[in-house]
Parts: sequence; C-alpha cells; structure tokens
Amino acid sequence: MDSGKLITFEGLDGCGKSTQLEKATDWLKVQGYSVLKTRQPGGTVIGQQIRSILLNPEHEELQPESELLLYLADRIQHLQDSILPAKAAGKIVLCDRFHDSTVAYQGYGRGLNLNSIESIVEHCIKPYSPDLTILLNIAPETVASRLERRQEHVEKDRLDLESLSFFKRVAQGFQELSAAEPERFVCINGEQEIELIHQEIINILQQRLQLS
Ligand code: TMP
Repeated sequence: MDSGKLITFEGLDGCGKSTQLEKATDWLKVQGYSVLKTRQPGGTVIGQQIRSILLNPEHEELQPESELLLYLADRIQHLQDSILPAKAAGKIVLCDRFHDSTVAYQGYGRGLNLNSIESIVEHCIKPYSPDLTILLNIAPETVASRLERRQEHVEKDRLDLESLSFFKRVAQGFQELSAAEPERFVCINGEQEIELIHQEIINILQQRLQLS
C-alpha cells in the first residue's frame, strides 16, 4: 500500500522536461507537498555509475542489448531503492524519464525486439507504472538545435550524437505509446514558451491528481 504518486516526464532530448520538472517540483513544494525529484538513469548511487557507463561518448562499442539491460538495471534499482519507499512515505515522485523511454529509444530508436525482456518488465516494472506521464513533444528536427544550445554549457553525451532518423523513430515511439494509453499520458507542445508549458503542467496536476 502506498499513498504517494509517481509522475513521469518524457520526451526527446532537449524537449525541456528537466526545466519543467524543476519548476513543477518547486510549485508542488510551495503548495506544501512532500516531493522527490529524481531521474533515470542515475537516481541512485548505483544508478549514477550505470548512467556514466551509458552516456559516456567514448563507449561507442556498447552493444544495443547491453544498453537495454543497463537501463533496466538502473530502473529496477531505482524503483526498489528510492521510488517505492518515497511513495510509501506519501511523497509525490517526479521522475525525469521512466520505462516509456526504453520502449521509445531502445525499441523504436534502436529497433530492438523488447519481447526478450517481457518477463522482467512484467514482474519488476509494470506493477509500478506511473500515475501520470507528461510527454513534452518537440519536432525531431528541433533536437539538434536545442542540444547545440545546451552544449555551450555541457558536453554532448553518447545519445546526443544520434541521427535525425533515430530521433524520428523515437518520436514515433512516444506518439504510439501515448495514443495507446490516453488515460495515463498528457501530451504538451514542448515548443511553447517555458512559462506557458509550466502553467499547463500546473493545470494538469490540479485536474488529474486533485492537487490543490
Ligand atoms: P536524459 O538526458 O534525459 O537524462 O537521458 C539520458 C539519455 O538516455 C537520453 O538520451 C535518453 C536515453 N534513455 C534511453 O535511451 N533509454 C532509457 O530507458 C532512458 C531512461 C533514457
């Protein structure tokens, strides 16, 4: 039994979800909620090590199946170590990416057949599906320019180096996932002004989760 909520933020690289997650966290805290802001990969001590393996641009030899299993390992560790205890304590958990990213990036982007991981997903991940998923949509063509802007401050990671066709497939994945579960997903145009998006997210939190 838990009384908390799990809200995930999804979208292409550079879609602005980290900025929005930060603003939503601040807003929820001002409303008096107890919030855990976290991310995948990298939301635990072990997960931070997994993240550095996954995103290191020098790891060109990383096999697609190894990549897939590392994202799953991070997620299972994160659920058990961090998300589920926080939910049990009544917290609202805001998580930057979750399993939808694996389906979109490894399934649609890399073209991996995810049937091979079905039993792990069924037992270790599906029971803890998010209560709400906010998908920030940007055009795949926008990814490169957003990442260029960001890279004035931070180095490009391994996935930032992917091609436009890769991000088109990932975007298609997110679109199909959101269409299949309209009660869980809320899609927002991520190409709008930051403050407009934030206001939409507040409205969604108020309506969908009966938050004040
Ligand atoms: P971030 O930049 O949003 O922190 O995510 C790191 C990268 O990892 C991003 O390019 C998306 C990618 N990713 C996957 O490919 N599969 C996954 O399951 C997750 C969680 C992230």
